[in-house]
Amino acid sequence: MLVSAKEMLKNALKGKYAVGQFNINNLEWTKAVLLAAQECSSPVILGVSEGAGKYMGGYKTVVGMVNGMLECLNITVPVCLHLDHGGYNGAKACIEAGFSSVMYDGSHAPIEENIANTKELVGICNAKGLSLEAEVGSIGGEEDGVVGKGECADPKECGEIARLGVSMLAAGIGNIHGAYPDDWPGLSFETLRAVKKEVGDVPLVLHGGTGISEEMIKEAISLGVAKINVNTECQWAFQKATRQYIEDGKDLVGKGFDPRKLLAPGFEAIKVVVREKIKLFGSEAAVDS
Ligand code: 13P
Repeated sequence: MLVSAKEMLKNALKGKYAVGQFNINNLEWTKAVLLAAQECSSPVILGVSEGAGKYMGGYKTVVGMVNGMLECLNITVPVCLHLDHGGYNGAKACIEAGFSSVMYDGSHAPIEENIANTKELVGICNAKGLSLEAEVGSIGGEEDGVVGKGECADPKECGEIARLGVSMLAAGIGNIHGAYPDDWPGLSFETLRAVKKEVGDVPLVLHGGTGISEEMIKEAISLGVAKINVNTECQWAFQKATRQYIEDGKDLVGKGFDPRKLLAPGFEAIKVVVREKIKLFGSEAAVDS
């Protein structure tokens, strides 16, 4: 059964580790993330952007696929199905469809609007036992056509949003989605410290997990980050392995064209990334499996 992220993040804060959110794009992705988490006895969050939800055939399709896998693959570690960077309507649609968690990203709206929408969604999620992630200070890079600059959040605004009762808060600390530019100055731990002071026990979320050094990841966790989102790194791993298979001409040999063979190296490559991240984030063996 899907669970909200509340309990797993509370345990993560206590245990000084972070739970990985791995974005999914299709059946292979979903299966790879679930199996890797199970093998590592780690809780896991499946992230679904609005675009990925549409691609996979709609939110209800995603809910059906994930619930089916939990049962048929005997996944016993805690699994949360979470809308990533949702708008107000997207969040409501996912709640309706059976997601166990949603992110409402009001970071591009004026703070008053972000507060009003977050407040309403907190009420709906609490009543249903779901978790809600809010965002302050937009995360840079591009995701589903939304481009942010990697700004640092205003700690006071983070405190205001945290006090609305959100389950977790994504605060921009100079992080961006996708590849980091060569001249990236790194995460702003000064901002992270100031945000943590304002939000108290509300778990913080680090977006843009791809390409952040191990040292910075560990420092972020030590300062209150309890959820780390990874997307692009799995995509690169899948791309590289699939390209290799084709360049080696394996699709031309025997039944190498069979999608179950063609997509197998990419599937395994995603599992490797997920296992590595779980170890780095410290959530391995956090639960029984
Ligand atoms: P990356 O694609 O940089 O790993 O970021 C993922 C993310 O933050 C999803 O919300």
